[in-house]
Amino acid sequence: ARLVVLVSGSGTNLQALLDAAADPAYGARVVAVGADREGVEGLRRAERAGLPAFACRVTGHASRAAWDQALTAAVAAHDPDLVVSAGFMKILGPAFLERFGGRVVNTHPALLPSFPGAHGVRDALAYGAKVTGCTVHFVDAGVDTGPVIAQGVVEIRDEDDEKTLHERIKDVERRLLVDVVGRLARDGYRIEGRKVHIP
Ligand code: GRF
Repeated sequence: ARLVVLVSGSGTNLQALLDAAADPAYGARVVAVGADREGVEGLRRAERAGLPAFACRVTGHASRAAWDQALTAAVAAHDPDLVVSAGFMKILGPAFLERFGGRVVNTHPALLPSFPGAHGVRDALAYGAKVTGCTVHFVDAGVDTGPVIAQGVVEIRDEDDEKTLHERIKDVERRLLVDVVGRLARDGYRIEGRKVHIP
């Protein structure tokens, strides 16, 4: 399966997919990487892997809708079977979901529906939760609201701050994302309402 991965930062989830795809038996390969900003490590990882890498900045377009159209075209140029949003910090718009809906997977560093949004790690810590984790889900029109595919639990320790907790979550998240993307790519899947069936 052809994967286009969307990043906004360090791209360690992307790197985990690149490393997994080195094995032909994985069943998926990254064909391009997109970001919503220039100069992020995630784009450099793509370039080091010899892959097409593009930045599609909201500020580079007359409107959010124009950005949505531009991102959709940039991703469609690589003909993905699956789009993986791994640390991509923009809400994917209606044009994007019209084109790729049902084929966009996102990873979120909390146990949805708890702590959605851009600060899931910080919010779980501030709430005083004892466990948190990560969620891999299909993207729908909401924010972190699409059908859940898999989750991983991570304990919160008294001495944790946002950075130490996020690093521990990312260790679980990278393994979960690689496992889920591989299964979706190799085995196919069916989404029925909020349930995801992988044969
Ligand atoms: C991941 O934990 C993702 O869930 C969150 O930001 C982090 C991105 O990490 N939205 P990386 O860019 O993949 O290293």
